Amino acid sequence: MSFTIIGTGSKVPALVKTNEQLADLVETSDEWITTRTGIKQRHICTTESLADILYDAAASALDDAGTRADELDLIVCATIRGDYISPSLACVVQERLRASCPAFDINAACTGFIYALDVAEGYFARKKARKALVLAAEAMSKTVDWNDRATCVLFGDGAGAAVLAEGDDLLSIKLTAVGNTGPLFIPHVGGNCPFVAVQSARPYLSMQGQDVYKFAVSSMCRDIQDVIKEAGIAKTDIAYVLPHQANIRIIDAAQKRLKIPQYKYISNIEKYGNTSAASIPLLLDEANRDGRFKCGDILVLSAFGGGFTTGACVIRWNR
Ligand code: ACO
Repeated sequence: MSFTIIGTGSKVPALVKTNEQLADLVETSDEWITTRTGIKQRHICTTESLADILYDAAASALDDAGTRADELDLIVCATIRGDYISPSLACVVQERLRASCPAFDINAACTGFIYALDVAEGYFARKKARKALVLAAEAMSKTVDWNDRATCVLFGDGAGAAVLAEGDDLLSIKLTAVGNTGPLFIPHVGGNCPFVAVQSARPYLSMQGQDVYKFAVSSMCRDIQDVIKEAGIAKTDIAYVLPHQANIRIIDAAQKRLKIPQYKYISNIEKYGNTSAASIPLLLDEANRDGRFKCGDILVLSAFGGGFTTGACVIRWNR
C-alpha cells in the first residue's frame, strides 16, 4: 500500500518583482538573470505570512480532492523556515483548517516535498493514514541578502499542497543526503545569550553556485535513472518530468544527459524563480489545473537542495 494523489493546490504572494525591477536594487540585468537561470520574475511575501499562502494552497487542494479537513489523518509540511520556530507551520495551518490530525514540519531544503511524500508513504504503509495532506512553503525572500546579486535574484516565495489517499500509485521513491555545510547554508537567527561572546554569522543564505550546479546535474541524472529502474519502467513510459526549479540550465543539462525528450519536462521557473521545497508542488498543481495530465500518466519528480539532500520518485497519475 502506498498512496494516490487526489488533489493539488498552490498559492503565491501578490507582489511580483521582475528582473528589471531587481536591477534597480543590485547591479544586474534581465539579460544576465534570464540567460544564466531562465528566471524572469518572482513573487515575494510582504503582507502575507507563509501560513496565509499555505492555508490557501491547502484549502484549494482539499477542494480539488473533494476532501474535508476533518478527514485528514496527517499533515506534513516541508519548509526550511516557517513563520515561527515553534509552532510548526503544519500546526498553524492545521488550526486554520480546523483539522485534528498530527501535524509537523520537516526540513530537507529544496528536496522537502519529496521527503514529505516519503514520510506520508510510511503512514499509509503502516495503515496509520487514509488521507494525508502534504504541504510545502517557503519565504526565501526572508533568507537572502538583498544586497547580494549572486543570490537575491535566484529565489522566490510560494506554497504548494497535495492531498493523498490510499492507493498504489507511488511506484518508486529514493532519498539521499550528503551532509555538507560548506557550499550552501543559512545561519540560524542569533539569540542574546549573555554567556556567548561571538555573535552569529551573517544571517543570510550563502551559496557556492558552481558547486551546487555540478552536484545538482549529476544527482538529478543519477536519481532519475535509479527511480525509473526501481519502478520497472522505461524512459519511453514517462509522460512528464517535474524537476526542481532552481535553474533552467541545470534542467537542460540533466535532460540532455538523460536523453528524455525535452517536451516531457515541465517548467515554470520564469514566473516564480527557485521556491525551494514549494517548487515541485507548484509545478504539479499548475499542470493538474491546466488539464495536462491524463489518467495513467507516469510522472517523475526530482529535486536537490541544501543539506545536501536529493530525492526522486515515480508516481502514476490516477485521476
Ligand atoms: N547579475 C550580474 N552578474 C552577476 C550576478 C547577477 N545577478 N550574479 C553574479 N554575477 C557575476 C559574478 O560576480 C561573476 O562575475 P566575475 O566573472 O566578474 O567574477 C559572473 O557573474 C559569473 O558568476 P558565476 O557565479 O560564475 O555565474 P554562474 O554562471 O555559475 O551562474 C548561478 C551562477 C546562476 C548561481 C549558477 O551557478 C547556479 O545556478 N548554481 C546552482 C544554484 C542552485 O541550484 N541553487 C539551488 C539551491 S537550492 C536550496 O536548497 C536553497
